Amino acid sequence: MGKLTGKTALITGGTTGIGFATAKLFLEEGARVLITGQNSDRVTSAVSTLGAGVIGVCADVSSVSEMATVAEKIKSEFGTLDILFANAGIAKPMPFQDVDADNIDGQLDVNFKGVIYSIQAVLPLLNNPSSIVMTSTTMIEKGVAGMSIYAATKAAVRSLARTLSAEFAEKGIRVNTISPGLVETPIYSKLGLSEEAVSEWAGQLLANVPASRFGQPEEVAKAVLFLASEGSSYMLGENILLDGGMATI
Ligand SMILES: NC(=O)c1ccc[n+]([C@@H]2O[C@H](COP(=O)([O-])OP(=O)(O)OC[C@H]3O[C@@H](n4cnc5c(N)ncnc54)[C@H](OP(=O)(O)O)[C@@H]3O)[C@@H](O)[C@H]2O)c1
Repeated sequence: MGKLTGKTALITGGTTGIGFATAKLFLEEGARVLITGQNSDRVTSAVSTLGAGVIGVCADVSSVSEMATVAEKIKSEFGTLDILFANAGIAKPMPFQDVDADNIDGQLDVNFKGVIYSIQAVLPLLNNPSSIVMTSTTMIEKGVAGMSIYAATKAAVRSLARTLSAEFAEKGIRVNTISPGLVETPIYSKLGLSEEAVSEWAGQLLANVPASRFGQPEEVAKAVLFLASEGSSYMLGENILLDGGMATI
């Protein structure tokens, strides 16, 4: 029997990277999983790779109405929900001096409002007990130049986990965050930087990682599984850093 046998899960941003690796692990552990992404080709491709037990919905987390559609689908397919992994996120690095409304709003809409709208959409469907896991970043602990707005949106997510843990405790809903460091995912090709700039930037960041390597999405997925499952039943409002020692050592 798997750690999630009989459980249902929504993973936002489940088409690539950390969300995809987590969907794969959840399925292996016996869950039924609905993944979302905002690119229909990537949703289709992820669903076909993941195979049986997964449903894909193309939905933008920053849209209240699209997240309502996701909740309707969960209700019709699963009835109720045991796990929400609010993971969809984007990063738009920019020197602070150049930060403008587009940069702020774009990251805030997906990384913070998207988490809020995801939770609000499925709250009526969440069982007692259930688990919400949200994706923050090690950059809320360690300052990294160029990441002012990104890190602030993720610090807001970390804060939300504490507040919602207090607010939802009586409903049996636990809320925790994971904070990955440098994890090898497609996010780096979506930064809006040239390939050269990305590899130079990654090289500089890696110099601050005692593990001397990028993490793999599968390593993060194992921590998400822990927070999503019975194994972490006494953890509320907690944060797990998975960053090869970047912020701690
Ligand atoms: N990789 C790292 O080093 C790292 C470190 C710390 C934290 N994180 C966080 O980890 C999470 C996952 O990122 P990743 O590294 O796995 O990157 P990724 O491979 O780019 O995955 C991001 C996922 O979010 C989805 N997404 C983006 N915008 C969305 C929107 N508006 N609505 C719905 N889905 C949306 C993407 O779908 P589309 O492809 O369709 O856009 C994709 O499925 C993010 O929150 C990120 O900030 C990553």
